[in-house]
Amino acid sequence: MARVLVSGGAGFIGANFVHHWLATHADEPVVVLDALTYAGNLANLEPVRERAELCFVRGDIRDTALVERLLREQRLDTIVHFAAESHVDRSIHGPDAFIETNVQGTHAMLKAARTVWLEERTVPVHRFHHVSTDEVYGSLDPHDPPFSERTPYAPNSPYSASKAASDHLVRAYHHTYGLATTISNCSNNYGPFHFPEKLIPLMIVNLLHGRELPIYGDGRNVRDWLHVSDHCRGIECILERGRPGEVYNIGGGAESENLQLVETLCAVADGAFAADAHLAGRFPDAPAARGEKSASLIRFVKDRPGHDRRYAIDCSKAERELGYRAEVTLARGLGETFAWYLANEWWWRSVMDGSYQRWIETHYR
Ligand code: NAD
Ligand code: TYD
Repeated sequence: MARVLVSGGAGFIGANFVHHWLATHADEPVVVLDALTYAGNLANLEPVRERAELCFVRGDIRDTALVERLLREQRLDTIVHFAAESHVDRSIHGPDAFIETNVQGTHAMLKAARTVWLEERTVPVHRFHHVSTDEVYGSLDPHDPPFSERTPYAPNSPYSASKAASDHLVRAYHHTYGLATTISNCSNNYGPFHFPEKLIPLMIVNLLHGRELPIYGDGRNVRDWLHVSDHCRGIECILERGRPGEVYNIGGGAESENLQLVETLCAVADGAFAADAHLAGRFPDAPAARGEKSASLIRFVKDRPGHDRRYAIDCSKAERELGYRAEVTLARGLGETFAWYLANEWWWRSVMDGSYQRWIETHYR
C-alpha cells in the first residue's frame, strides 16, 4: 500500500494519473500538491472530488518546507512528480518560469525528500518518480532509430533544456545521496482534460468554432502519440516494478506527421457531424455543420523557432522489464478524445475562461 504525493495533479497528465490511481488503488491516500497555474484546474479533479482518500493542497513545489511537512505529517512514501511548465511555445516567449518551476522546483522537491526520507527516516521504503519528456533527447532525422534510454541528451528548447536539467538533478540525488528515484521519458500525450493550447485539443476546439487550424511550417514534423491512459499505466508499472536509479521510456508506438494527424481529426469531426444532427445546432460555426469539410480550416503558419523535426520512442526496456504495453491505437484514441471533448463542453469552456476555478473558490474556500 502506497501513500502518494502527486505534484501537478490538477494538470492534464497528473489529473488523469489521480483518476487512474484512485480507480486501481482504492483506500490508498493520495495528496495532490498543485499551484493551480493557468494549466492547473480543479475541474480536472471534479470526477474524484468527493473521494475520501484524496486531499488537495494548493501550494508551490518550490516551497521545500511545505513539501517536507506534507511528507512528514501524512507519512507519504511515494512522490510522482508531474508539476512543471509544459508548453514549448510559452518557453520560447518566457523561459524564466521554466527554470524556476522545472529546475528549481524539482530541486526543492528532491531536497524535501532527502531530508524527510533519508535523514529523518519517516518511512521504511520510499520512491521519487520524476515524469519527464522525450524532448530531452533532441530531434531525429526521418530514418534515425527511435530514442532509447541510452540516447545522449540534446535538448533544443528552453522547455526541454529545463526538463533535461531536472532529470540530471534526479539522477544526481540517486547517485550521491541514495534517494530511490526513477525517471520516465515519454512522448506526446493526448486524451481527456488536455488544456486547449496543445495541438490536439486546440484543433478540436477551433474546428468546432469554425476557427482556423494553424499548422506550423510544412506540417511534416513527426510526434509519437501516447494516449494518457497508457502513460498512466506505464507510470504504475514503474512504481510497482521499476528499479531505483533507472530510466524508462514510455511511448505510444504511433508516429504521425502533424498535418496527417490534423486531417484525421478533421475526418473524425466530419463523421461525427454526419452521424448526429444535433451537433450542427450546438456548433453552428463548424464547417461540418454546413456539410463542409473541417479540413478547409487548415492554414500553414510561420514555423516555431527551433522546431524539432521528429520524436519517436523505443520503449522496449519498459516492455521487457515491466510488462508495459501501449493499448490505445491512434485511430481509436483520436476518436475517443474527440467524443470526450464533445461530451465535456462544460470542461473546456470553464478551463478556458477560468469560470470553474472562480466558482469552486467562492463555494469551497
Ligand atoms: P500541465 O501543464 O497540464 O500541468 C502542469 C501542472 O503543474 C498544473 O496543474 C500546474 O498548476 C502545476 N504547476 C505548475 N507549476 C507549479 C508549481 N510551481 N508548483 C506546483 N504546481 C505547479 O502539464 P502536463 O501536460 O500534465 O505534464 C505533466 C508532466 O509531464 C510535466 O512534467 C511535463 O514536462 C511532462 N510531459 C508532458 C507531456 C505531454 O505531452 N503533455 C509529454 C512528456 C512529458
Ligand atoms: P505541442 O502540442 O505544442 O507539443 P510539443 O511541441 O511538445 O511536441 O505540439 C505538437 C506538434 O504540433 C509540434 O510539432 C508543434 C505542432 N503545432 C502546430 O503545428 N500548431 C499548433 O497550433 C500547435 C500548438 C502545435
